Amino acid sequence: MKLIISMTLLLTSIGQTVDEQRSGTTLGTSGTEQTKLNRFAPGETWPDTLGKHIQAHGGGIILRDDTFYWYGEDRTPGAQTGVSCYSSKDLYNWKHEAVALPHSALPADIRDETFIERPKVIFNPSTGKYVMWMHLEQTGYHFARAGIALGNKPEGPFTFLNHMRPVQYDFGYKDNDPDRQKEFGGTYRDMNLFVDDDGRAYTFYASEHNATMYIVRLNEEFTAPETPIVENKTWARAFIGKYREAPAPFKFKDRYYIISSGCTGWKPNAAEYAVAENILGPWQTKGNPCIGEEAELTFRSQSTFVLPVPGKPGCYIFMADRWTPRRLFDSRYIWLPFIIGADGTFTIEWLDNWDLSYFDKKQ
Ligand code: GAL
Repeated sequence: MKLIISMTLLLTSIGQTVDEQRSGTTLGTSGTEQTKLNRFAPGETWPDTLGKHIQAHGGGIILRDDTFYWYGEDRTPGAQTGVSCYSSKDLYNWKHEAVALPHSALPADIRDETFIERPKVIFNPSTGKYVMWMHLEQTGYHFARAGIALGNKPEGPFTFLNHMRPVQYDFGYKDNDPDRQKEFGGTYRDMNLFVDDDGRAYTFYASEHNATMYIVRLNEEFTAPETPIVENKTWARAFIGKYREAPAPFKFKDRYYIISSGCTGWKPNAAEYAVAENILGPWQTKGNPCIGEEAELTFRSQSTFVLPVPGKPGCYIFMADRWTPRRLFDSRYIWLPFIIGADGTFTIEWLDNWDLSYFDKKQ
């Protein structure tokens, strides 16, 4: 009995030491008290405001007024993956708003066998709608379609609109293609959304069975590709045959950037970044932005999003997932800061913990 009590005290005090490094207040251990974080701690569990590890894997963030909304895969054990929405004013403390798109919102004819990966949301000012795109998949990863859903509020509920393969293009389909690309169009797997300064939106995704990245301009509503769809005018192929996935596009001044990963499933590999004057390309590959120990494994993570830091031109947060395939709910978030230099290049280095003052000190 005594031993159990002292073990509990020890674990509690270790927990508090770690927590106190990150937070302004002492944490409760029950997971019900408010925790106030003031640092990012890449690779640690990241409690939401109720103390539960955030479920927003493969996610992305939008800023509306002074509130950030973080969407991602809700891998809570026992439930089929839905899309969660968290809100924050400071990027450290996240409140679980809702499951913005529960799995049950998928269409009945595909629901049972279909799962959701890497959801992203953008806001369309002309329709007033929040538009969600996601990778819809089935066992074997041959379904490979885009799912689109609409919401009136950031936290939803979102209504499922449609699923599709956005582009039909004959890149030389293989016979007996398990992805059935001749019939349905090029596969849609790891994906992202990007809204340009002119208000036009794009989806970036790994297509052609992941061999080639597609960049496709969306229609005015952001709900489908712009039509008529014309190669190198409304869409383009990039990194042809290079097997790049996990696209995280962003822009600085007049240049477009993208960080992506290689294709090794849940296992980490080296990131790469590329730059372009035109969003549809040509893209110039610049190499691995990560430096230091485990840089060749992206610090054991895979890109999902790049968040521009509001009010700090050239300052970004690299967001990545450190996947735990057998316990996806326990996958960790790797958020690291970077700043684009005067020559347009940047590096990303590991930090055990950091806060937003990083960007003040470095500028
Ligand atoms: C990765 C991809 C993840 C997930 C995983 C499944 O390549 O980035 O989002 O699809 O494969 O193996």
